[in-house]
Amino acid sequence: MAPEPAVIELTGLTKYYGRQLGVEDLTFDVSPGEVFGFLGPNGAGKTTTLRMLIGLLRITRGSARLLGTDVATAPPALRARIGYLPGDLSLYKNLTGREYLGFMARMRNRDLAERIASLSERLNLDASRHIHDLSKGNQQKIGVIQAFMHDPEVLILDEPTSGLDPIVQREFEILLDEATQRGAAVLLSSHILSEVEHLAGRVAVVNEGRLLVVERIATLKSRSVRTLELTFSGPVDPAPLRAVPSVDGIDVHGAVASCTVVGAHDELLRVALTLGLETVQTHEPSLEDIFMTLVAGGGPDAAPPAGQELA
Ligand SMILES: Nc1ncnc2c1ncn2[C@@H]1O[C@H](COP(=O)(O)OP(=O)(O)OP(=O)(O)O)[C@@H](O)[C@H]1O
Ligand SMILES: [Mg+2]
Repeated sequence: MAPEPAVIELTGLTKYYGRQLGVEDLTFDVSPGEVFGFLGPNGAGKTTTLRMLIGLLRITRGSARLLGTDVATAPPALRARIGYLPGDLSLYKNLTGREYLGFMARMRNRDLAERIASLSERLNLDASRHIHDLSKGNQQKIGVIQAFMHDPEVLILDEPTSGLDPIVQREFEILLDEATQRGAAVLLSSHILSEVEHLAGRVAVVNEGRLLVVERIATLKSRSVRTLELTFSGPVDPAPLRAVPSVDGIDVHGAVASCTVVGAHDELLRVALTLGLETVQTHEPSLEDIFMTLVAGGGPDAAPPAGQELA
């Protein structure tokens, strides 16, 4: 089956605020049914990118298309097919949650009262309260509801789970699943990497406005450095272990060898078995470790070519 054409497409997308770099030369795309994570530390350029996609910020160079339409010249009707959760959510505080959400629905020419009631219940939001009386997390729920309530084909979510408690986060994940099941494309920013790890299939990692890598999370993990602790039946000669190409470093104390391995470790285990291997302990790299390695590596030169899928 041919892959579905992308519905979120960034091509060399660049933003300068005057002389201040926002983001530079971002290229990647997201397909229907895909959750794509957009990761980077504070100030990396996540909000800048998402605001350009949604047409809130003028693009300096390059282009972006949503659902096949160039965002720079998109008609207002396109917005009805998009759900956007801003990172700096600001709501009309004198309204109740229900009034605000009803207002947003009318802006989209839709009557979504039932959907709003059901989402409020699922996220445990008391929609009858005035927004100025709600905690930050409860206000964030309103942001989530207005992004999802009209079943958009594209969801652009800027740190969607910020402030949500674990139970509400779980419900958010179910909403996300429902959206992708019906074919929505989701671009979701975060700096909480462990959160994205189980939500997104692929991620782009940005730092200081530049793309470090675009990759499947599983591939990133398999390519990253990890430590294996091998225990042998007796004192072990490190030379054959050190000779394995994927072994980057080795530290031997008697019968225990600590090996730093880049990528696959099957060959190392094969060699270790011939030397009397008894037990293996592996430490699975978290996306956090991977991210730190990429950022510490310092820019695009340290990582595979940006904007490109690796096998
Ligand atoms: N209105 C603005 N004027 C000038 N510079 C800006 C403006 N908005 C953002 N920037 C700069 O652009 C860069 C990217 O900022 P952005 O807010 O997009 O980062 P972010 O990844 O969303 O960060 P955070 O994780 O803190 O939300 C930063 O260097 C920031 O200082
Ligand atoms: Mg931001």
